[in-house]
Amino acid sequence: MKFGYFDDVRKEYVITEPKTPLPWINYLGNNGFFGLISNTCGGYNFYKDAKLRRITRFRYNNVPTDSGGRYYYIKEGNTVFNPGFMPVKTELDSYECRHGMGYSVFRASKNGTASTLTCFVPLNDNCEVNKLTLKNETNQAKDLTIYSAMEWCLWNAVDDASNFQRNFNIGEVEVIGSTIYHKTEYRERRNHYAFYTVNSELSGFDTDRDSFLGAFNSWDTPTVVENNESTNSVASGWAPIASHRLSLHLEPCEEKTFVFVLGYIENEQKEKFEAPGIINKTKANALIEKFDSAEKADASLAELNEYWEKLLGKFTVKSDDEHLDRMVNIWNQYQCMVTFNMSRSASYFESGMGRGMGFRDSCQDLLGFVHLIPDRARERILDIASIQFEDGSTYHQYQPLTKRGNGDIGSGFNDDPLWLIACVSAYIRETGDYSILSEPVPFNNVEGSEKSLFEHLKRSVHYTATHKGPHGLPLIGRADWNDCLNLNCFSEEPGESFQTASNFESGKAESVFIAGMFVKYGQEYIEIAKRFGVEQEEIDYIAGEIKLTEKAVEDHGWDGEWFVRAYDAFEAKIGSKECEEGQIFIEPQGFCTMAGIGEDKGFGEKALASVRKHLLNDYGVEILHPCYSQYYLNLGEISSYPPGYKENGSVFCHNNPWIIMGYSRLGDGENAFDTYRRNCPSYLEDVSEIHRTEPYVYSQTIAGRDAKNYGEAKNSWLTGTAAWTFVAATQGLLGITPTFDGLSIVPCLPKGISNYHATRMYRDVLHDITVENSCSGTRKMLVDGVEVAGNVVPLKSGAASVKVVITI
Ligand code: BGC
Repeated sequence: MKFGYFDDVRKEYVITEPKTPLPWINYLGNNGFFGLISNTCGGYNFYKDAKLRRITRFRYNNVPTDSGGRYYYIKEGNTVFNPGFMPVKTELDSYECRHGMGYSVFRASKNGTASTLTCFVPLNDNCEVNKLTLKNETNQAKDLTIYSAMEWCLWNAVDDASNFQRNFNIGEVEVIGSTIYHKTEYRERRNHYAFYTVNSELSGFDTDRDSFLGAFNSWDTPTVVENNESTNSVASGWAPIASHRLSLHLEPCEEKTFVFVLGYIENEQKEKFEAPGIINKTKANALIEKFDSAEKADASLAELNEYWEKLLGKFTVKSDDEHLDRMVNIWNQYQCMVTFNMSRSASYFESGMGRGMGFRDSCQDLLGFVHLIPDRARERILDIASIQFEDGSTYHQYQPLTKRGNGDIGSGFNDDPLWLIACVSAYIRETGDYSILSEPVPFNNVEGSEKSLFEHLKRSVHYTATHKGPHGLPLIGRADWNDCLNLNCFSEEPGESFQTASNFESGKAESVFIAGMFVKYGQEYIEIAKRFGVEQEEIDYIAGEIKLTEKAVEDHGWDGEWFVRAYDAFEAKIGSKECEEGQIFIEPQGFCTMAGIGEDKGFGEKALASVRKHLLNDYGVEILHPCYSQYYLNLGEISSYPPGYKENGSVFCHNNPWIIMGYSRLGDGENAFDTYRRNCPSYLEDVSEIHRTEPYVYSQTIAGRDAKNYGEAKNSWLTGTAAWTFVAATQGLLGITPTFDGLSIVPCLPKGISNYHATRMYRDVLHDITVENSCSGTRKMLVDGVEVAGNVVPLKSGAASVKVVITI
């Protein structure tokens, strides 16, 4: 069952029913100012950091779900409706929500009043614009009242949700004309405030929540809206909000447009006030003026549209599969931008209060983003590397506002350092910019500790090389990519964090997955080192370590039919046929196959055949099988989940593309595409009532066969699935891979869809690629009409475009 449809021409998903299985959301903003917005206008805004600089309030885990947002109440007589259905829930005569690239449009009508609400964050301004048009579609004149409403968050989202003994005393606002300013804590150590304005005269306002809602009321029945009378309340403590009241008269067929702007301003310390206690509004006034008419708002939206058109134009494909095309051309790239911006911080599943930017998460997110805006990728790499410690290990997360490592989450995840090589390699292969390797980067942000980025890479790879266990495999530390495989934790304390508690330093638990990473990224490190002119001794050392690691996997990490997952603190195998539960895990099958370990012995083929046999379900490849039926002290969080959920046997979508990449390495297009198709959101649109999350983006998990809700997805948007699937679709299936020396093109598609035309902007040259595949096995590549041997299109610097035709 569907709840809408794709409008590919406009690059939108159109939701036609407000009661979607879960809130289906969109993201507004690209750089500093962000908004989350659901199909019923729920959500919130923040500046850079959803924890430390939250602008509007939202209640996670609330009833009804999705409470808090930008709400517009439209009142005529006794009828009140909202353009996004919530919070009043008046049945609408028509409803549609269009989520597009950085904007959302809500169209609704009731009793002949049509409303169109367009919400977006402009490209270069710290504000959200809400353009609201009301049209009288009847032949009778109408008198309407509009009430806007949103609630201020007192900046720190954690404190805001817990420290009431202070918070109920500190709320402060100013109201000047049609602008409501939120200035809590500005009097003391903050240098920022927010405002909410509209380009029209008010017939009233409210800034105190209790005055607006009335005792015991919620957002669905505000007293002010019921009485059709604002109270002009000025908040002092308690809960400051912002609500404008607008009165309007509409002749038949007449329409009027209002532009509301929610803005964020920072002032220098010495320029904070214009009079004692009165905030300096110079910057706010300038921002308000920028959007004080419908024309200005429209021009800004047009600019945003153009920006996205250009950005997405960097990679386009036209194949015989509309789902593949739609995902690659639009939604997968869009989700890559969102995950790059948010890491795992703020979604409808990530509260924005707990997790900042993950080290491994951000490194991987970059893989799907680097082709879009390489400069931002560059900056991110340097930020990430700055939280690394001198020994090569690293903090696991950092806060986007401060860019400092987050001590609460700690360190010791032994896969982390190697992801730095993955993203730097991707950056250089994309851009050819080796200068990044010479950039001075501190350790743990300590001034004076700066060493070149290359030195950081070196310490990363050496960290793994020097932290090995009894079988010569890398030590796992607190956990590897699978945060929940906690082999040194042994937690018996209810509520104790599996990731920070370490009760047993075995020095023995090893990860075959990290071994696969080391072989793959060690090779990429060597490629970088060679080109950067690093001494041969270093290259030989790592090459030797790679050989040893491969040998260790072949001797101790191969189970006969598939790769073992790990060794526990007692040197017992995890993910082996010897185990009672959890006999096979997906991660090493994907990574060791990608790394080519045991390729001459057919390990990859066998491993992937085992994946199909044991792990494949209707929605993709499950993370492990059979699921753990009880809690195992020596395994940790992985066994804490009921069977079929999360790390205990769901389809953990993030690692499915590793299998696709494995198949691609083996040249198996049928299985590569089959794996891709199973959890591709667009393919799942028809079963939205089962899948439940948005059909335009990937979710982290889809409940596995053992789960009660088999097929139900959770944790949409912020998942490494976005970047990895983009890599798998474009580099694996379409086979267009940036290498150090040019674009390599080796398609790996099934028979039915083996031809395509793609355009790929690469090192400032537009590569126009046509693949004609008769599946004959022989291959010819013409570059600008001239036959070229091999798979790599030679670099053509200076040329605007290059035409590549491949016939197979
Ligand atoms: C985390 C990742 C982790 C994955 C698997 C995600 O929630 O953000 O860092 O690799 O779970 O455990």
